[in-house]
Amino acid sequence: MFELNLDINHFLDIYWQKKPLLIKQGFLDFQDPIMPDEIAGLAMEEEIESRLVYRDKQGKWQAEHGPFSSFEKLEEDATSLLIQAVDHWHSDAQQLIRPFRFLPNWRLDDLMISYSTKNGGVGPHIDNYDVFIIQGLGKRHWRVGAKNKLKEFTAHSALKHCEAFSAILDVELEPGDILYIPVGFPHEGYAIEPSINYSVGFRAPDQNDLLSSFTDHCLDEQETCVRYIDKEMQHREKPGKIERQELTNLHEIMLKSCKTPEQLMPWLGKMLSESVHDLDIAICSVEHSNTQILEQFNEGAQFTRLGGLRAIYFEQDPDFVYINGTQYNCEEFNTLGHQLCDQDEVGSELIELLSENENALIFFTYLVNSGYWYTV
Ligand code: SIN
Ligand code: CO
Repeated sequence: MFELNLDINHFLDIYWQKKPLLIKQGFLDFQDPIMPDEIAGLAMEEEIESRLVYRDKQGKWQAEHGPFSSFEKLEEDATSLLIQAVDHWHSDAQQLIRPFRFLPNWRLDDLMISYSTKNGGVGPHIDNYDVFIIQGLGKRHWRVGAKNKLKEFTAHSALKHCEAFSAILDVELEPGDILYIPVGFPHEGYAIEPSINYSVGFRAPDQNDLLSSFTDHCLDEQETCVRYIDKEMQHREKPGKIERQELTNLHEIMLKSCKTPEQLMPWLGKMLSESVHDLDIAICSVEHSNTQILEQFNEGAQFTRLGGLRAIYFEQDPDFVYINGTQYNCEEFNTLGHQLCDQDEVGSELIELLSENENALIFFTYLVNSGYWYTV
């Protein structure tokens, strides 16, 4: 279990999305939850997103995408192996997400892990997410610049860099230290010695992400699609002109399906609960019955939400929960629905509810049989 050594309210007031912060010994007595050979093992898997970033003999940046079958490059200096969404695949590493649950689930992106040899790093860049970079094994030198408009360029087809910047934070991270970098602040980090870094990233959608996903949703909902009509048409002297009222009416049609925030919930709930990276879903070969699940609870079982699975609900519509892109009606048992979204693990606190409410038990059994919650 990792415990965050941080005054959370002070952090949110002063630093969150505002300025970078070094949290010295943010995790006391930090023990790496994963070893370099396991990181390499993950990089061999087809479904797992991995990259090797290094500088070649001429000092030119290079990047290769996994899966990898050999790791000779990691015997050389100035190399980094990066693995995306490790929280989906490695339950011990996934524990590193939990201390950051003071931020809402829907903002969490993933846990990225990098292993770097001496001088390894990915170069100066700007991310479009907030990140907590935790130092595990080894030491790494980090520089963070101010949020100024910097030139960005492609250092390699898979590497976007930014121009040189002066540092507002220049630190050497040791095991257990955490560096918080808000979205948009340029940064670069180079390993002083072989080093593991854990990046807990928080991504927010931008306007284009929202609009393109909403448009896809509207295209799927053809039956509610409204067409422009103009029964009151008048003889026009200037046929080239679009009149003020016509523009207003067109604008009105565009806004029809998103006039109130509540109208957005069915789409947003699905969109925000969809996982960006693959999930490690192990569907049970033999389905559990409701009775078996209840027995497991009675025997003291704890059920854990699958790593990376997103479960959310809206304050305005607490009867629905959204899990992995699907909306579920939980009006008869919304306390269960909310606990599943708010807690990473559930256990004995659910026994009474599940014994008394058969539909709640059916729902939970369905989630276990879908591979979304599991017990060890
Ligand atoms: C890394 O761990 O090498 C990259 C992390 C980052 O800069 O976001
Ligand atoms: Co970065």
